Amino acid sequence: MNLTEKKILITRPHKIVYKDGDRIVKVFSKGHGKANVFNEALCHTRVEESGLDIPKVLEVSTFEDQWAIAIEYVEGKTLAQLMEENPDKIEQYINQFVDLQIKMSSCKVNRLTFQKDKFSRKINSLKDTIDATARYELCTRLNSMPVHTKLCHGDFNPTNVIVKEDGSMAIVDWSHATQGNASGDAAITYQEFALKNPDLADYYLDVFCKKTDTAKQYVQKWLPITAAARLTQIITDEEKQFLMRWIDVIDFQ
Ligand SMILES: Nc1ncnc2c1ncn2[C@@H]1O[C@H](COP(=O)(O)OP(=O)(O)OP(=O)(O)O)[C@@H](O)[C@H]1O
Ligand SMILES: [Mg+2]
Repeated sequence: MNLTEKKILITRPHKIVYKDGDRIVKVFSKGHGKANVFNEALCHTRVEESGLDIPKVLEVSTFEDQWAIAIEYVEGKTLAQLMEENPDKIEQYINQFVDLQIKMSSCKVNRLTFQKDKFSRKINSLKDTIDATARYELCTRLNSMPVHTKLCHGDFNPTNVIVKEDGSMAIVDWSHATQGNASGDAAITYQEFALKNPDLADYYLDVFCKKTDTAKQYVQKWLPITAAARLTQIITDEEKQFLMRWIDVIDFQ
């Protein structure tokens, strides 16, 4: 593909995200793998069928010999930016964020991967990090959790929500989307907040549990599983220690 007006939005270890006119283009490094790129585009495209207001995938092609996905550009600021700029409005933003999450999980996208299969694959890939006994415990816990088929984002956090001029919100970054249990998805969100701001994490959990009439313990029960899943990503030693503490909780229950 040709990028005629490209401006760098974000640089990551495996990709660069450009704004190119009225679209964004994610250009992936060679190490990211062709299958991962097509899988991200396929997950995103499937979610487009849900009826949620999300930007559309326009093209999967190459740019300078690297795989790239072009997606419609959504004009606005991320919710993360707004939370930083207006700390006095943080409670209002979290309430809107949870409302959006609830709206998302009311959607069904039948052909997405099952959340349970994804978690299970991740837990079982951690042979060098977690011993067989702990992996077995994690899988037993996962298998005891109720199986649902709600649309789950897999990385629902304020950097992946874009707030438009009229206040409406669009969700981006569907590479981890699955169908599954919304409280499992909420545990991922809680975990992301907790790594940076524990008070905000607790506030989020309060709001989520109140609005969905869910017991906090039920969301917390997912945490050893979501912590293990996150260990499969590139993370700092400090974060690894933090996550391992959640996984170790299993020994005492
Ligand atoms: N369609 C879009 N319109 C406008 N901005 C976007 C769009 N998609 C992504 N962005 C911006 O680019 C950023 C990174 O994109 P995205 O979230 O898809 O990549 P990422 O893989 O999640 O990166 P990271 O894992 O570090 O969050 C988003 O946080 C958002 O600011
Ligand atoms: Mg993102």
